[in-house]
Amino acid sequence: MAHLIPENLLEDILGRLDIVEVISGYIQLKKAGRNFKANCPFHHEKTASFMVSAERQIYHCFGCGESGNAFKFLMRHERMEFPEAVEILAKKTGVHLPQWDQPEVARAASLSSQLYKINQLALSFYENNLQSLNSTAASDYLLNRGIRLETIKEFHLGLAGSAWDGLINFLRSKNIPLSLMETAGLVLAKESGGYYDRFRNRIIIPVFNIHGQVIGFGARVTDNSLPKYINSPETPVYVKGRNLFGLNLAKDSIRDLDCVVIVEGYLDFIMPYQEGWKNIVASQGTALTLEQIKLLKRYTHNVVMVYDGDTAGELATMRSLDLLIEEGMHVKIAPLPKDKDPDVIVRQEGIKSLKIKIENALSFFDYKLGILKGRYNVGEAHGKSQIASEMLLTINRFDNAILRGEYIKKLSEDLKISEHYILEELNKLKTKVTDSKLSPSIVQKKLSEINPVEKLLIKFMIEEKELIGKIMQELLPSDFQDARTAKIVQVMHDLVLKGKNIEPNILMNYFNEDDANQLVCETMFMPAILEDEREKAVNDCIARIKVQRLKSKREYLHVQIKSAQNMGDEQRLNSLVQEFHNLIKKGD
Ligand code: UTP
Ligand code: MN
Repeated sequence: MAHLIPENLLEDILGRLDIVEVISGYIQLKKAGRNFKANCPFHHEKTASFMVSAERQIYHCFGCGESGNAFKFLMRHERMEFPEAVEILAKKTGVHLPQWDQPEVARAASLSSQLYKINQLALSFYENNLQSLNSTAASDYLLNRGIRLETIKEFHLGLAGSAWDGLINFLRSKNIPLSLMETAGLVLAKESGGYYDRFRNRIIIPVFNIHGQVIGFGARVTDNSLPKYINSPETPVYVKGRNLFGLNLAKDSIRDLDCVVIVEGYLDFIMPYQEGWKNIVASQGTALTLEQIKLLKRYTHNVVMVYDGDTAGELATMRSLDLLIEEGMHVKIAPLPKDKDPDVIVRQEGIKSLKIKIENALSFFDYKLGILKGRYNVGEAHGKSQIASEMLLTINRFDNAILRGEYIKKLSEDLKISEHYILEELNKLKTKVTDSKLSPSIVQKKLSEINPVEKLLIKFMIEEKELIGKIMQELLPSDFQDARTAKIVQVMHDLVLKGKNIEPNILMNYFNEDDANQLVCETMFMPAILEDEREKAVNDCIARIKVQRLKSKREYLHVQIKSAQNMGDEQRLNSLVQEFHNLIKKGD
């Protein structure tokens, strides 16, 4: 069994929720016949192969094979452990979970919740430090930067003092084990033994996830020393490429305004937000990841990037641009003067000035072309071709042929190159891209061949309540040749014997293996067999499995007989031969 949480509770939870509603909270589903579909959130694709069945309460991606029930979706999408997904959906459906006392479950369930708790404790410690009397220097630093008192409170800014063991001692007094502090990334091991606080002498900026739980910290010096920021390492609850700073505060505003402004730094978020500009997130100084873009896509498709006017900002913008376009986002860029970032602009010129820059943001085309013209000499054939190829790399990301056509026309006019040549170059690129798409970079975890007869029988057993008894009478789980189908049939046998109904989404609670889940889901999306043909189809399948069973028994006996012959074991040989005869008689 996959876990120790009572089955009836899991069934209760699954019975009370609708997987369509759960998944719709994360991605946009479109009705497609009796099912719903979407672009798969688990692999990159341009045509939707991710299916959700309201009837069966499962999902399955025909592109990458990812499939399962509502628990599994949360586990994959939110990178949760099973017990945590159960906890969240139990809360959502109002199912009361008894306190688990099985140590194993408790451990798995709570590593994440323990980390959230420790982070929360650490946060209260840091916040307290900042408010305590002898931290006026730190408060002055923040106030001098234009951060108001209520903003300090709203963002829960804090202070790490100068002691090497301030946080350690505080957490110890709360009975937190050191190993957990280390897992949370709050303390570091000394070479000589013992531990010390990771953050010292720094302003603390907590990082929250979308649910408002503290997952990590950024810590800034209050002078010019380096490094300027130290950040929490990645931990089980802090996966950096999956989180965007400030999204917990900004998400409603992003949805309402249908636009998000992406900045780089913590302070670039805090200052405009303080001045009322709330549809904003910070990428924390790196290029955006695919997962971060998918996260944003839940709220809007319109993005304005406001990155620092330095080379690092430019590079990060360029790298993010292609990915955003490929994900179908509508992107604009508001370039800032060198040495200025959104925080500086708000402080020196006011929020209005930033607003104007955002309103006048450039299209990706004008932005990138401008940058390339600064890099290459547009007056020379070589420079021109360089600019054209780099522009094409981005233009090629548009899914929409009309948009591609428009940009090619613009490029041709601007660079004074015939459209014909540009298209020729684009076509070269296209074949290259398609080649690389076929390469193993997209690893499809397709199920290796499973006997279609066994697959069909599984489908019948799940879908046809009247047929399962008949199939069980005729076939044993061990008659199924594939270990995966045999396992699924075994579980169904056990459930039927316990008098339970077979529902695909519940069946899944019994498997640890992805393969079994995937197989069940795949069969559920297989076309249905017409009602009056079902009985015959089942009989055919059973007959085929029986033939298969007979054949493998024969083969088995054959091998045994040979080995008995070789060993000169007369007695065993006789009984095997007898068995062989019986088998053939019965089979005929
Ligand atoms: P910046 O160097 O632009 O810093 O880095 P900033 O946000 O403008 O900081 P202030 O205004 O000087 O206080 C942008 C972001 O890159 C990450 C941080 O997330 C920062 O907000 N960063 C930067 C680090 O993680 N470590 C560093 O040493 C520097
Ligand atoms: Mn700054």
